[in-house]
Amino acid sequence: MATKQKAPTSQFVCSNCGFATPKWLGRCPDCGNFNTFQEELVRVAEPTKNDLRRGVSEMKTRALPLSKVGYEKFDRVKSGIAEFDTVLGGGIVRGSLVLLGGDPGIGKSTLLTQVASHLAATQPSPTLYVSAEESCSQVKMRCERLGLNSDNLLLLNETCLEDIENSLGESKFVIIDSVQAIYTEALSSAAGSVGQVRECAARLMRIAKSQNITFFIIGHVTKEGSLAGPKVLEHIMDTVLYFEGQQEDNFKLLRAVKNRFGSAQEVGVFEMTDTGIKSVTDYAEIFLSETRGLAAGSAVTPSESGNRCMNVELQTLISKTAYGQPRRMSLGVDYNKLVVLIAVLEKRCGIPFYASDVYINAMGGIRLDEPSVDLAICAALASAANDAPIDKYTALFGEVGLTGEIRPVAYADKRVYECIKTGFKRVILPAKNMKACEKYKGKIELIPVQYVGQMIKALNLRPTNAPPTFGSKTDE
Ligand SMILES: Nc1ncnc2c1ncn2[C@@H]1O[C@H](COP(=O)(O)OP(=O)(O)OP(=O)(O)O)[C@@H](O)[C@H]1O
Ligand SMILES: [Mg+2]
Repeated sequence: MATKQKAPTSQFVCSNCGFATPKWLGRCPDCGNFNTFQEELVRVAEPTKNDLRRGVSEMKTRALPLSKVGYEKFDRVKSGIAEFDTVLGGGIVRGSLVLLGGDPGIGKSTLLTQVASHLAATQPSPTLYVSAEESCSQVKMRCERLGLNSDNLLLLNETCLEDIENSLGESKFVIIDSVQAIYTEALSSAAGSVGQVRECAARLMRIAKSQNITFFIIGHVTKEGSLAGPKVLEHIMDTVLYFEGQQEDNFKLLRAVKNRFGSAQEVGVFEMTDTGIKSVTDYAEIFLSETRGLAAGSAVTPSESGNRCMNVELQTLISKTAYGQPRRMSLGVDYNKLVVLIAVLEKRCGIPFYASDVYINAMGGIRLDEPSVDLAICAALASAANDAPIDKYTALFGEVGLTGEIRPVAYADKRVYECIKTGFKRVILPAKNMKACEKYKGKIELIPVQYVGQMIKALNLRPTNAPPTFGSKTDE
């Protein structure tokens, strides 16, 4: 092969200890680990005239005092899908590298086909969709199903990165579907290997920054849930998005895990329909159940993520422990937080859980990591323990300390406003947050609490089989 006769341009490096060898080895002679060798480029290709020009100008740059540094205004372009823009931090930033990860079949190609079609229709430069996995006719069939048609949208069925680079032409927005299916000729390892994925992504990054081209790169998720090539891509990217959701569920969540141009807390909600992916703005449908207020063990909390506030329902189930050790299981809520709050309820409010298995789930597959969900977890647990439902028009938020005190949380007024907007009549909140929320007093009933026992009392959830004393502080 022609590449074999050239001077070696790649080497195999042990990912554990860094030992380098020109040939692949099964076991590292240095550290003794098996299967750790990854192919890497030894040197970059000879610089082209273009590279030299850019390189020289970069080398000549000097460190500047802060006052002399100019502002860089991010030019944002609308993607045509409101939720997608929100997750990106207000739109697509030109020249950025966006990685979209997700399980197979979740709708990554569908989402980016829609975005590509909108960009093609609204931007003067053509948009290039590089389909390395599907044939052009498959992409066309999808476009027809979604009702997309634009001559400014170019399709390319190519897997070689060098050929893709030559086909970029005037395009300013490029979709790569997917990074695991493309390869660079500089490395001899197979497409999808860690070395290939890393090298291709680094090359795309250089093109994006030097030619001001925006790349949307689709990445497959490994069985463990991380993007293939453990985290090798994330640090190169400007924005990393994960598309999540159950296969059978129509609702999908798009989560930003890294964003250099906006909040990394943003969550976008989408619905998968026959005619494509649509933004969802009525969150109540997803995050609140129909049985709310009827069944014991459910509580609603206004959760703040990124720039938005959503009311999310927490559901708990308590059952008698069958064998020795009681089980605790949490979905969408930190496990340790659940265990700590169970202990707080046992000790400060006298609600016994030592002989019960406890399960908790945040509705709609959302993750609630904020401290403000503590109070709702306690309410849901107390409701389940006492088999008494919480009124469906009551929401709660607040951080619970180990002594049972309720601490104030951020964005209290925003949370109360969200409750008003979504038709809640009562909010139980930390007493120290009352001042910020007083402006809403006429619109919604605000119940300030200082101790977790007060919340139990306000909701009338006092367990029938608990000791009569709740501790001197907690009962008031
Ligand atoms: N004819 C159809 N009508 C309705 N929905 C469809 C139709 N064809 C496909 N879908 C939906 O689109 C989803 C596949 O979307 P898409 O190909 O964008 O996913 P992907 O994440 O790119 O998958 P892959 O990992 O295989 O590339 C399917 O799971 C299905 O829900
Ligand atoms: Mg796809």
